[in-house]
Amino acid sequence: MTTRLLGQILHYHGNPFELGIDASAIHIARGAIDIDGGRIISVGARDDLTPGPAEVIDMGDALLLPGFVDAHMHYPQTGIIASWGKRLIDWLNSYTFPEEARFSDAAYARAQADLTLDLALAHGTTTLASYCTIHPASVDAFFEAAEARAMAVVAGKTCMDRNAPENLRDTIESAVTDSKALLDRWHGRGRARYAITPRFTPTSTPEQLRALGSLWQDHPDCLMQTHLSEQVDEIAWVRELYPEARDYLDTYERAGLLGGRGVFGHAIHLEPREIERLSEAGAALIHCPTSNTFIGSGLFQARRLAERGIPIGLATDTGGGSSFSMLRSMAAAYEVSQLAGQILHPAELIWMATEGSARCLHMSEEVGMLTPDSAADLIALDLASTPAIAQRAARADDIWQAVFPTIMMGDDRAVSGVWVAGERRA
Ligand code: GUN
Ligand code: ZN
Repeated sequence: MTTRLLGQILHYHGNPFELGIDASAIHIARGAIDIDGGRIISVGARDDLTPGPAEVIDMGDALLLPGFVDAHMHYPQTGIIASWGKRLIDWLNSYTFPEEARFSDAAYARAQADLTLDLALAHGTTTLASYCTIHPASVDAFFEAAEARAMAVVAGKTCMDRNAPENLRDTIESAVTDSKALLDRWHGRGRARYAITPRFTPTSTPEQLRALGSLWQDHPDCLMQTHLSEQVDEIAWVRELYPEARDYLDTYERAGLLGGRGVFGHAIHLEPREIERLSEAGAALIHCPTSNTFIGSGLFQARRLAERGIPIGLATDTGGGSSFSMLRSMAAAYEVSQLAGQILHPAELIWMATEGSARCLHMSEEVGMLTPDSAADLIALDLASTPAIAQRAARADDIWQAVFPTIMMGDDRAVSGVWVAGERRA
């Protein structure tokens, strides 16, 4: 049965960083989206449509958007979000590693996966790319929890064979054997996609990185996700560990871990050569602004990198990030763009949180866009969800002024509807 959702609609003809805002973004004040069989059938102006189908859901003036796509997060860190007072390496050792060790218990892993996905949905996030822990059962737990909710997700076993506690280390061989078994089991099963996941250069030996590079070569349709140039102390450590490498990216490049399906989190302090090579390779960079301010990492150069043609996505990076909300992440991206002198427009922020992230994950045919045949993974945003937001939005002259107060001040209360594969989830 076809369902028709009524509301305002915002969608895009293409990348606003390439086409400009006016040529890429389309606002329909009285819009309708027809969905059937878990897919979008049509998107358009309400008045142009044929008489309505059996079920009509009127969301009033809410803004209908694709569900948010959180392109980099760590579901095992949900329990330690908002932990005080540390920078990256100390934060990993003090908070993250002890919590990740608990995921040797498969039941705990499943409970945390369920909790994280429910929090994500409540915040309007319908697709996530998550790191798991070194335990293969933590990957099964996440994919099973996502499958139970019909969510399209990316995940992978985090690989670490040095500079981590003994109980969180794998080996060169087990990293490959376990990752291969997991990608054989999950990649392409239902809506699941696998990402080969070395945590970052400091926690893998060169041999482990190379072994994962060969695994990726054997399975080129999988993604590869890792961290790159997040914090200056980390970069100095990488230089000590790899005196022969030209730069941080080179530690991945020489291992066969730079490619078009590579997804690099953070990428704040990049050298010109790294930007050149990322651009040539077509690899994606994921901006994690609440994490970058929370852990004190630095200012991502979103516009500069996007204008080099590098795919840019947006993410929460929970629990280094301090919020499950992609709205809050857009607000932080705006604040970072102010500090970096490269101010981002609301159209660019929303695009990064939806289609931009989906493109980085090579999933834009399925999620992140309002186009016929896309999955019906949708949200409705109430643009007057609190008195403070409502009084500001009431003065808006156009859609951008109407939506910006929700970007800057909105949270899960702004998410008035969530559909995953056409089923209402919130
Ligand atoms: N670098 C390596 N591991 C991590 C992690 O878990 N979070 C963040 N923010 N950076 C990392
Ligand atoms: Zn991360």
